[in-house]
Order: sequence, then structure tokens, then C-alpha cells
Amino acid sequence: MIYVRHERPGDEAVIHAVTAAAFEGHPHSDQSEPFIIERLRESGALSVSLVAEMNEEVVGHIAFSPVTLTPEEPGWFGLGPVSVKPDVQAQGIGRQLILEGLEWLRAEGAAGCVVVGDPALYQKFGFRNESALVFPGCAPQYFMALALSGAMAAGTVAYHPAFGVE
Ligand SMILES: CC(C)(COP(=O)(O)OP(=O)(O)OC[C@H]1O[C@@H](n2cnc3c(N)ncnc32)[C@H](O)[C@@H]1OP(=O)(O)O)[C@@H](O)C(=O)NCCC(=O)NCCS
Repeated sequence: MIYVRHERPGDEAVIHAVTAAAFEGHPHSDQSEPFIIERLRESGALSVSLVAEMNEEVVGHIAFSPVTLTPEEPGWFGLGPVSVKPDVQAQGIGRQLILEGLEWLRAEGAAGCVVVGDPALYQKFGFRNESALVFPGCAPQYFMALALSGAMAAGTVAYHPAFGVE
């Protein structure tokens, strides 16, 4: 049984550990993901931060943070990092975190969400490549967007400085 809830004080260390374990040896990772989450938290930019519990142990985490669009469009967020402990991957925990995270964004009135990652994964949740929305430095096939209310945005996307890619 998986229980998804918002991060609470005291979860910081286990979120770091789960994220580090999930990205260890990952071909597209520089192992910075746990530190990105910490910098987002310190900046007050963890807009949605959910953990997945299994048998009262935190085994997964997802973060969403605000992204900036030029020309300006309010209400857009970036998904990630998302992590599931390696020994419990492929059991539906990541799917539940992504779906519940997107529901929270919708409930808070978000305009939309972008993600950098494997299209095979994120297309399952409705993310698509959008030629009008550009993330400089990222191969377009790995950059995807999902409108949550209203129309798809257009322009250039910048993640929060906590990601270290400005
Ligand atoms: C990616 C990750 C969060 C997915 O969590 P998970 O609990 O293993 O995934 P789920 O079991 O919920 O699977 C969700 C769906 O995505 C698919 N999927 C999972 N990982 C995938 C991947 N890397 N590429 C393509 N599809 C993937 C599954 O087949 C499943 O599809 P289905 O429901 O149609 O069968 C997890 O594997 C992980 O932490 N990986 C290492 C870190 C990482 O790569 N994070 C994402 C960076 S963009």
C-alpha cells in the first residue's frame, strides 16, 4: 500500500537519501539532484514536494518548482526531480507521485508544467514536445510540456536558479 503525502519537517534527510539512491549511476545524472531539492527548499521554491510511503518508510519523492517564461506567462512549473528507491521501482510508485503532483498543481490553479526527461515515461501523463516552448540547451525531444488550465504557452523556459542551469 502506497501513501502519498506532502513533505513535512524531518523528511529532508530521507528525501536526500532516496533521491541520491535513485540517481546513483544514472547515465544522465551528475548526482546533483538531492542538492537541487535542498536549494529549492532553502529558496522557498519547492512549490509541491510529495513523498511516497510504503510500510511507513519514505520510498519516493517528487518536486515541482516555478519556471520562468519569456515572454512572461504566470503559473508554469517544472516537474522534477522525481525518484523512487531502486529496490521498489517499477511497482507504480513513480506513476502515483507524478499523477498526485499534477493534481496538486491543478488544484492550485497552475497554468501548466514542463519536464526534462524520457519521453516514453512522461508521454504517459500527457506531456508532449511543443515546438513553441523552448528550453535552451536541451535536445527538444527531451523537453515536454502539459497545459493544466487554458492554452499551451509559447516562449523560452528557465528553471529556478537552484538547478544551476540558467
Ligand atoms: C523514473 C522513476 C521515478 C519511475 O518510478 P517507478 O516507480 O519506477 O515507475 P512506475 O512503476 O510508476 O512506472 C510508471 C510508468 O512509467 C514507465 N517507466 C518507468 N520508468 C521509466 C523509464 N525510465 N523510461 C520509460 N518508462 C518508464 C513504466 O513502465 C510505467 O508504465 P506503465 O504504467 O504504462 O506500465 C524511477 O524509476 C526512478 O527513480 N528512476 C531513477 C531516477 C530517474 O530517472 N528519475 C526521472 C528523471 S527524468
